[in-house]
Amino acid sequence: MSIVNFYRPEEQVPLEMHKVRVVQKLFLLPVEERLQKMKEAGNNTFLLQNKDVFMDMITDSGVNAMSDNQVAAMSIADDSYAGSETCNRLISAIEEVFGTKYFLPAHQGRACENILAETFVKPGQFTLMNFHFTTTKAHITRVGGSVIELVGKKGLEPQNDEPFKGNFDIPRLKQTIKDLGAKNVAFVRIEAGTNLIGGQPVSLQNMLEVAKICKENGILSILDASLLQDNLYFMKTREEMCKDMSIKDIMHKLGATMDIIYFSARKLGFARGGAIISNNESYILKMKEYIPLYEGFLTYGGMEVRSMEAMAVGLRETLDMEIISQGPKFIQYLVDELDKYGVPMIKPAGGLGAHVNAGEILPHVPHSQYPAAALATAFYIASGVRGMERGTLSEQRNPDGTEHYAELELVRLAVPRRVFTLSQIKYCADRVKWVYDNRNLIGGLRWEDEPSVLRFFFGRLQPIGDWQEKLVEKFRKDFGDSL
Ligand SMILES: Cc1ncc(COP(=O)(O)O)c(C=O)c1O
Repeated sequence: MSIVNFYRPEEQVPLEMHKVRVVQKLFLLPVEERLQKMKEAGNNTFLLQNKDVFMDMITDSGVNAMSDNQVAAMSIADDSYAGSETCNRLISAIEEVFGTKYFLPAHQGRACENILAETFVKPGQFTLMNFHFTTTKAHITRVGGSVIELVGKKGLEPQNDEPFKGNFDIPRLKQTIKDLGAKNVAFVRIEAGTNLIGGQPVSLQNMLEVAKICKENGILSILDASLLQDNLYFMKTREEMCKDMSIKDIMHKLGATMDIIYFSARKLGFARGGAIISNNESYILKMKEYIPLYEGFLTYGGMEVRSMEAMAVGLRETLDMEIISQGPKFIQYLVDELDKYGVPMIKPAGGLGAHVNAGEILPHVPHSQYPAAALATAFYIASGVRGMERGTLSEQRNPDGTEHYAELELVRLAVPRRVFTLSQIKYCADRVKWVYDNRNLIGGLRWEDEPSVLRFFFGRLQPIGDWQEKLVEKFRKDFGDSL
């Protein structure tokens, strides 16, 4: 990776190694209107309309800026149903990048999870993973399986200096397999860039150890590579064993070691779509028949061919450290800015986005009143920035209907790659600081309408009391006429 040092080190900021050639106008509504829009959206940032959002930091999924080469590739897409050249080009890109032979297409990451759960999880079986992801767990529990999380203790501490907080606790993994019996374990899933604990990476060494234990016990190893891009950056910059390996060396090592790899191309490869890949044909044959059933013919699996072309180019671009470092560097900058100010952040900075520790900011709001969701509404009202709740509201209820309180109550401010300028990131930090200083005004939320599955996507809530109006009043007092 090239290094560009500033003459005045105190003015060093992350430097974009790209220029912007297509732009989209943004709108910032006045604070009173933002309050109104939040109410109309049932206090759920997923239900806001994008036209009412200034900076959309809800996710980095399918919203990253594409490169000129990706856009150019889209124009040569071959949309023939069978024998498509686009599919051939994607297969060779995957082979080049991961070194794997077999590929199944799917429309996005959760579609891969559906197929993996249908094929490999039997009722009563366990799946072991460093940490669950919402859609992964929903698919596994839907077919009667359950999830056991084995992330190391440090992964759940909001702040420490552990460089790979997503790592499996290896002794616990071994013990759990022994206790359950290998035949009761459907698979072990390694989630790169562990989403729900703050986009925290897993080291290559840990991944390889987990795969070795799986092999010794005859258990399937599966890598969820959706967030591998940022994870690769952290392997390269934080892990001794990766110092002399190229990104391609690391990806080939993973391709050769894991039984199955799947990913959401909405994240990996800056495109849209999904893929399941392997070097073992027998696993692929077991899943193959589900693709035409659920996704589409084997040449596209529900993906739009233009997206497949963008994905092929995007995957190759993942091998370029200059390209994959932009996200983690911007995230680090945002985390550092907020940390210096005293805002409790998940540290060290991970991938995906900056994660604000709502549990610590709002100790007066109990888990049962969804502090992270409440803080996400406060951010939007104060700034027009849309973040995402990653706490108790994003959890599934226990089978007996009681709440499953999240280990960490976080608000995620995702940083879509190459989308925002540094001044916009500074604006975001400024408004978070204001919200932090006014945290005592913020109260909790309660359900108005709670869906039974993936409730965080479309559930509606109400504030408990009139704290949002008080926040708007304070904003006006502090900011005068400013938007
Ligand atoms: C780690 C991880 N796995 C799976 C998925 C699901 O992918 P998709 O949103 O494409 O369905 C996501 C999406 O955010 C993810 O972060």
